[in-house]
Amino acid sequence: MKDKICLIGLGYVGLPLAVAFAEKFKVVGFDISQSRINELENGHDRTLEIEDNLLSSVKSNITYTADIRDIKDCNIYIVTVPTPIDKTNRPNLTPLIESSKTVGTVLSKDDIVIYESTVYPGVTEDICVSELEKSSGLRFNKDFYCGYSPERINPGDKEHTVTKILKVTSGSTPDAAKQVDDLYKKVIVAGTYLASSIKVAEASKVIENTQRDVNIALINELALIFDQMDIDTNEVLEAAATKWNFIKLTPGLVGGHCIGIDPYYLTFKAEEVGYKPDLILAARQINNGMSKYVADKTIKEMIKSGKIIKGSNILMLGVAFKEDCPDMRNTKVIDIIEELKDFGVSVDVYDPWVDHAKEIGWYKHGIIKNPIESDKKYDAIVVAVGHKQFKAYTNNDYKKLSNGSQIVIDIKNIVTNPAWRL
Ligand SMILES: NC(=O)c1ccc[n+]([C@@H]2O[C@H](COP(=O)([O-])OP(=O)(O)OC[C@H]3O[C@@H](n4cnc5c(N)ncnc54)[C@H](O)[C@@H]3O)[C@@H](O)[C@H]2O)c1
Repeated sequence: MKDKICLIGLGYVGLPLAVAFAEKFKVVGFDISQSRINELENGHDRTLEIEDNLLSSVKSNITYTADIRDIKDCNIYIVTVPTPIDKTNRPNLTPLIESSKTVGTVLSKDDIVIYESTVYPGVTEDICVSELEKSSGLRFNKDFYCGYSPERINPGDKEHTVTKILKVTSGSTPDAAKQVDDLYKKVIVAGTYLASSIKVAEASKVIENTQRDVNIALINELALIFDQMDIDTNEVLEAAATKWNFIKLTPGLVGGHCIGIDPYYLTFKAEEVGYKPDLILAARQINNGMSKYVADKTIKEMIKSGKIIKGSNILMLGVAFKEDCPDMRNTKVIDIIEELKDFGVSVDVYDPWVDHAKEIGWYKHGIIKNPIESDKKYDAIVVAVGHKQFKAYTNNDYKKLSNGSQIVIDIKNIVTNPAWRL
C-alpha cells in the first residue's frame, strides 16, 4: 500500500513538511483552525514560509481540511502542533493531548503516528501514546506504532529549508524506527539520523535549543558587563571570534516559539525527577531581562540629552521576534514597549513584515504605517529587529524621524553611530 500521510497542525512546521511530502505522496493537511484551512485553500501562506507558486505546484497532491472524517484513510499521521508554556513557565501539553485524541479516533491497525513537536523526553510514549490508546482502543506496539522526529527549521530562513536540514528520526520498535527513517529519507535531501530511541530523539531536540539559549545568555551577560565598562561588546566578540573554537553569537532579545520556550520543557522535567537546573534557569532569567535593560537604557539616553520623558514619543522599529519574518510569537520587543510605557512615554511601532497585527490584537500597541512617509517626529528610536528594510536606513532617515537631538538605540548592531548599542 502506498503511504497516505496526514499532517496534524499546519503552522510554521506542519505546512512546509506537508508540501515536501506532497512532492512524493498524497497528503492531507488537517488543522483545527478553519481560517488557516481557508487561507491555504486559497493558495496563500500568511507565515510566508511557503511561496504561493510552490503551494500551487503541489495542489493536486494535497488537500486541506478541518474535518476529521477527511483524515480517516491515512496510514501515517505526523503531529506538528504547538507546545507552549503557561504563565508559570510550565509545559502546556493541551494541543498535543487534544491532537492525539483526534488521531486516536481515526487510527487503524498498523498505522504510525509520528510526533514532531518539541517536548521533554517521555512525552510521546508516556503521555501521547496513552491518549492514542484510549481514544482508538488499539494497543501500542501491537496494533499501532509511534515515531518522533524533531523539526529544526528556522522561520524566515530561506536557505535552511525543511528538506535541506538533516533530520533526526526514531521509532517505538526497530521496525517502526526503520519505517519512519525510510519515510523521511524519501523527502529530506540532507538525509536522516536514526536515533536509538524516541526519548533520545526528544532529548536531542530540546537540548539543541537549550544549548543555544545558554550560550546567548552568556553573551548577553558579557554585554551587560562591558556596557558598565564602556567597552563595545561587538568589538570584543569580533576579536574573540578569531580563535578557532570561540562560538560567535551576538547579544540580543531571545523571543519566538522555540529558544525562549523549549528550555522550560527540560527544566520542568528535570525538577520533576529531582534535579534543579540552575544554569538553564539562570540563562532564561538573563535573556528575559534584556528587554528591561534596553528600555532603561533608552530612558537614560533621553534624560542625558535633556528630553522630558513624560509624554515623549518613541519609535520602535520592528516587533517580529526575528529579522525578515512576520512571526511575533513570544516577541520580547513587546516587553520593551511595556517597560517604556511605564515611564509615561508613547510608543509607535513600525514593522513592514507584520501586516496582520490588527487581526491578533496588536493594534493596541500602536502599530503604524511607514513613519518615513509621515511628518511625525520622535524623541528616541529603538531599532529592535534587523529587518532588511531597517538595514537600509541612512542617517538622513533617522534625522528626518527625530525630534531635535537624535537618539537611536541599536539592539541589532545595524546603525552607524547610535546613541547606544547593545
Ligand atoms: N516554528 C519553528 O520554527 C519551529 C522549529 C522547530 C520546532 N518547532 C516546534 O514545532 C511545533 C509546532 O510549531 P509551529 O511553529 O509550527 O506552530 P504554529 O503555531 O505555527 O502551528 C501549529 C498549528 O497547529 C494547529 N493546531 C493546534 N492544535 C491543534 C489540534 N489539536 N489539532 C490540529 N491542529 C492543531 C494550529 O491551529 C496551528 O495552525 C512546536 O512544538 C514547536 O516548538 C517549531
